[in-house]
Amino acid sequence: MPAAIGIIGGSGLYEIEGFEKAEERRIDTPFGEPSDALVGGILAGRQVWFLPRHGRGHRILPHEINHRANIWALRSLDVRFLICVTAVGSLREEYAPRHMVLPDQYFDRTSRREHHTFFGGGIAGHVAFGDPVSAGLRRILFEAARAEGAEVHDGGTYVNMDGPAFSTRAESEANRQLGFDVIGMTNLPEAKLAREAEIALATMAMVTDYDCWKVEEEPVTAEAVIAHLQANVSLAKRVLARAVPEVPAEAEWPEHRSLDGAIMTPREGWPEE
Ligand code: ADE
Repeated sequence: MPAAIGIIGGSGLYEIEGFEKAEERRIDTPFGEPSDALVGGILAGRQVWFLPRHGRGHRILPHEINHRANIWALRSLDVRFLICVTAVGSLREEYAPRHMVLPDQYFDRTSRREHHTFFGGGIAGHVAFGDPVSAGLRRILFEAARAEGAEVHDGGTYVNMDGPAFSTRAESEANRQLGFDVIGMTNLPEAKLAREAEIALATMAMVTDYDCWKVEEEPVTAEAVIAHLQANVSLAKRVLARAVPEVPAEAEWPEHRSLDGAIMTPREGWPEE
């Protein structure tokens, strides 16, 4: 069986159409319940599982998302490739609303760090995270986005704030000075947990606003974010439909073996107390 492909939808993207043999699964995990039932089926010949991270109807705030349950549930359904769709604010003039950015780096400004790892409770694990995004999957998304005529930017740093309030102008300026490109509230924990679960992950970050640093723009509001995102949703779906058949059947990339090189205790040869 080819590996399954997961899609996590963000604000505005709560379902995917066109599944053959569609089915819905409610999955309980050792970390509790995922954001919603997973909806799966065959899309372009591949098994795909879709999960809206805020729940259908957008019920769950960024800091309330049970990322561990979400990633666990996807992995339990054999997902080894994961495409995350997420709304972001732009920290650069040239990344305009309704553009797509494919980040290749993250910067972590989140708290709740015990929720962002599967390790702990006696298992001390540390996976390498220097290159947090799957280069192979990012390339597939880039080609698909270009073929769909998207304004797409390949690479960039996604800074993950806690939210749910948007940034102050001082924070936004500081983020710009630090060289970050886009800002969001959700994607980094998904990337960390996917790495621990040996899932290759890439993110389609859809720009909805200029955050609040651009003083000639209206400061960011939830309404503006949703309006731009809805405009982006049909593009995101077309890019996904084009990308899915290009994803390899076998899980053979370095991200699929991330635990091979991880530091794990207890393990053979580890010094006893
Ligand atoms: N999601 C969309 N726009 C955002 C912004 N400006 N800051 C944080 N998350 C966002």
